[in-house]
This record gives sequence, C-alpha cells and structure tokens, in this order.
Amino acid sequence: MSNPLAPPSGMLAELTYRCPLSCPYCSNPLEMAGRQAEMSTDEWKRIFSQAAEIGVLHAHLSGGEPASRRDLLELVAHCAQVGLYTNLITSGVGLTKPLFEALVAAGLDHVQLSIQDAEADSADWIGGYQGGFAKKIEVARWVADSGMPLTVNAVIHRANILRAAEMVDFAVKLGARRIEIAHTQYYGWALLNRAHLMPTREQSETAYAAVEARRAAYKGRIVVDHVAPDYHAKYPKACMSGWGRLTFNVTPTGKVLPCHAAETIPGLEFWNAREKSLAECWADSPGFNAYRGTDWMKEPCRSCERKNEDFGGCRCQALALAGDASATDPICSKSPLHHRIGEIAARDSAEKVEGFTQRRLTREKVADKV
Ligand code: SF4
Ligand code: FES
Repeated sequence: MSNPLAPPSGMLAELTYRCPLSCPYCSNPLEMAGRQAEMSTDEWKRIFSQAAEIGVLHAHLSGGEPASRRDLLELVAHCAQVGLYTNLITSGVGLTKPLFEALVAAGLDHVQLSIQDAEADSADWIGGYQGGFAKKIEVARWVADSGMPLTVNAVIHRANILRAAEMVDFAVKLGARRIEIAHTQYYGWALLNRAHLMPTREQSETAYAAVEARRAAYKGRIVVDHVAPDYHAKYPKACMSGWGRLTFNVTPTGKVLPCHAAETIPGLEFWNAREKSLAECWADSPGFNAYRGTDWMKEPCRSCERKNEDFGGCRCQALALAGDASATDPICSKSPLHHRIGEIAARDSAEKVEGFTQRRLTREKVADKV
C-alpha cells in the first residue's frame, strides 16, 4: 500500500533557457524553446502563488540564466510576497550590482553561483564565455558583502577533475557557506558529450578522496555537499530524491515535470501549468504517477532493501542506458546491465577532451553518440 501523497517542498522554476554561457554538461534539454514561447510574468506569478498554496517552501529560480529575464526582480518580489524562500541559481553573468541590490531589497533569500573551474582560462573555456570567471568573483563579493548565504556549485568532469579540491578552496575564498561538488550526471547535453566529459576511474577516485579530505579540513567553515561520480559508483543516487516525491520542475513553457530529462521518456504524459493547476499537475498527471513510489518497480529493485533509499536510481538514465525507463538504473551493481557501465566509462574516458558540443539554444543536428 502506498503512502498518501505529501505536498511538494521544492520547485525548480526554469524561467528561461536563454543563457550567455554554453556549458557542455547543461541539464537543459537538447531542443530548447526560445524567448517567444516563454511564459509571461503574470503566468509565472500565478504559478508561484499556486506553489505557495499547495505547500511549496523553496522556489529555486533557474534556467538557462534567470537574469536573462527582464522581469526577474518582479518575480522575486512576488515569490517573497507569497511566502516562498527564493534561491537564485545563476552563472552570475547578466547580474549587475544595482539589480542584485534590488533583488535583495525585494526579498531574495539565497544565491547559488555556478563555477566551471578554479582557474580562469579553463573556466572560461568550459563555459564558452570570456570573462565569466572574473564576473563570478565580482558577484560572489556582492553576495558575501550583503550577508546573504552563498552556495557555490561546481560540476566535475574530465576537464576540471584534477582541480576538484581546489574548487573547494576557491569557494571558501569567495565567502561561500556551502559548495556542491557534483560529478557530472549524464543526461541531456552531458550525455551527448559523455565521451569528452568522462574521467577515468583513477581520476574519479583521486578527486573523490581529495574533496573528502577538504571536507574534513574545512569542517565548521564550509559545508561540502559531494555528489559521487555515477559511473564509478556501486549504487545509484536517489535521483531528484525520488520521482515526484518532494520536488518538481516547471519549464519555461509551463510543463510540470518530475526532473530535467523526464520528457526524454517516450509515452509519458505531463501536464502544463498554463492549462491546469499545479495541484492537479502534481497529484494527477499520468507522467508523475508512472514512477511514483515503488509499486512500478521490477526485480531486482522490487525486493531490494534499498528501494526506499534510492528509488531504483534515475528513470531517465535507465531509459538512456537500458532502453527501459522502468528498469533498474544500470549504475546499480545489482542491475544485469551493470557491466556495461564500466565498459562505457573505460571507453569514453579514453577519448580526447577537445570537441565538446557546446550547449546552444538552437543546436545543429549532431550525431547520436550514446
Ligand atoms: Fe537501488 Fe534497485 Fe539497485 Fe536496490 S536493486 S540498490 S533499489 S537500484
Ligand atoms: Fe529524470 Fe533522473 S533525470 S529521473
């Protein structure tokens, strides 16, 4: 018997797919809607009001780059008015000091700043934006000076993994209270670029140990959230803390989804907050209910003692790697396909690092490398 559905606690609002950076591991979809298709200010405000009504506590304002929206200030002010805790997830590029100060005055609660590396040349190369690294240092200073809590987020892959621990040092210098060291999750653009992003097992293990050592060394100064490298793990992560369990995403065009890549799963029906209430999308959308809880699971997950811990891993990864979204995530060592993960990781980590397909709003047709 499944537990009654709890209200969601968090909402990731992807305000826009527009972004000045072009990171090759972007979690946005490969086909992205442009400005014309984005929801209006009033539509977003209505959705934030509904979110607060159904129990959402945290609104994570993301993108793309949320500062690409001219109405960001108005949206933050509205979130604050309806009682949502607002977290601005930003590259820093596109923010100005007056805008940041206005956001603070409007009630912004928290900033999460992405970094691409701990050194300028590499960071600007990975993000595809000259001067981005310097801009982030400037933005971090504004945030620290304002007294607002700052989290730094660093996505780790083969081009920066040797400096994973230095990124923790860098975050401390920036005045961050928390850093997320997130080894790349391979869906969306990261899956497309997997051969250029995959580190070797040795690199992963060395970086993992170095970051853990920093965590101990900086205890009490900065919190280190460390997402382990998927392809070199024994068990999968509870992707999104479980499908449709705690949080949901709203895309720039109003689709309500359980995760970034859910639309890659064929045959699932997701509803749009332009047409239905958030409460309906959360509780009744067939796509949400397809993989909620544990009733949908097959073996080995069905009888596994970890099924309420990791919820069978990532549905989108199961689709991408096993061809079946209801299969055990092949990252799991109990999956009959697990041996393939080691083979893929070994093959991809042997490729050259050059040649990313940089994330673009309109992408040219690229060969399916998966
Ligand atoms: Fe998780 Fe399924 Fe693996 Fe068990 S068998 S550890 S539930 S993915
Ligand atoms: Fe969709 Fe993990 S990204 S469930």
